[in-house]
Amino acid sequence: MAKKILVTGGAGYIGSHMLKDLKARGLACVVLDDLSTGYAENITHGEFVKASLADPSALGTLFAGHDIGAVIHFAGFSLVGESVTQPEKYWRNNLIGTKNLLDAMARAGVRRLIFSSTAAVYGRPDVSLIPEDQPLRPVNPYGASKLAVEMMLADYAGAGLLDFTALRYFNAAGADPEGEIGECHDPETHLIPLVLQAASGRRAKIRVFGDDYDTPDGTCLRDYIHVTDLCAAHYLALQHLEGGGESLHLNLGTGAGYSVREVIDCSRRVTGRDFTVEAAPRRAGDPPRLVADSARARDILGWKPGRADLETIIRDAWNWEKKLGQKNGAGKAGEGET
Ligand SMILES: NC(=O)c1ccc[n+]([C@@H]2O[C@H](COP(=O)([O-])OP(=O)(O)OC[C@H]3O[C@@H](n4cnc5c(N)ncnc54)[C@H](O)[C@@H]3O)[C@@H](O)[C@H]2O)c1
Repeated sequence: MAKKILVTGGAGYIGSHMLKDLKARGLACVVLDDLSTGYAENITHGEFVKASLADPSALGTLFAGHDIGAVIHFAGFSLVGESVTQPEKYWRNNLIGTKNLLDAMARAGVRRLIFSSTAAVYGRPDVSLIPEDQPLRPVNPYGASKLAVEMMLADYAGAGLLDFTALRYFNAAGADPEGEIGECHDPETHLIPLVLQAASGRRAKIRVFGDDYDTPDGTCLRDYIHVTDLCAAHYLALQHLEGGGESLHLNLGTGAGYSVREVIDCSRRVTGRDFTVEAAPRRAGDPPRLVADSARARDILGWKPGRADLETIIRDAWNWEKKLGQKNGAGKAGEGET
């Protein structure tokens, strides 16, 4: 029987889309999640083990009880603001939790790992397209904890203990095109779901933090990558390692930067709804532009995002938001950031 893939954080936003992707490919998996920010109903494939990365003995039992061939590691905390006020939470979960996972893998002889890294490892780069060899200068504990994991991975790989691909995502967005699952963070801090909550009436207004940046319309530019395209890249990264490929760091974005204003305008077009937009002062630490050079992922993995245009991303996210709105009722979204 083929070995299983362990998906950590499979009850979360991106991990749950990965489970659907693996299911469609007929690949068996086991899901490890402590449901700290995820939801059991997101797990539509695989055997669910409710346990934390903080528990080495649960990890040992999991590896002993399943024939695992590789790990896709999404579990972690990812709220930038929270990481500034509670850094210990981020270092413990993102770094120590991952160390527990690597040690359990080493004991079980499992070598292949795909890791969810982030564009936050670059900090505030001053180039228009960010390649992987840009200086790594994270400006918050979240980005620092992810960079520390990348360094740990390199050391474990250097010692011959594992092979890894660290995927540095830019802004994951969109939802399952079949509408079964989607983004549901609490608090929500990502621009597209926040804008769509304003469009559906679950949020009173949307705030735009800074409209005087050195960008075409003065608002910040970000690179939005459809969650299903992200998942496809994980599968290709796994194949790369299975084919004997070397350990890698790869950016995952589309290379197109969309401004906050463009996201708002596109959301108005897609939803056919109007909503209140309020100008607010710049937030400390927001880089004006964060756009990936993903040529390496395309060249090495043969990856090509298939749902890259903003309208498709927003349409899929809108279908999901309408479903959430029906489930939760209008006006119930919490406060978030944009
Ligand atoms: N969403 C993005 O735009 C984005 C961008 C860059 C990187 N990332 C990274 O991708 C990963 C997934 O992000 P997401 O948006 O799906 O987040 P999410 O919060 O929706 O999912 C994370 C999942 O991990 C689980 N988890 C957290 N700590 C755990 C632990 N100690 N043990 C077991 N399970 C644990 C949570 O319950 C949740 O189900 C994260 O590591 C994040 O840092 C996300």
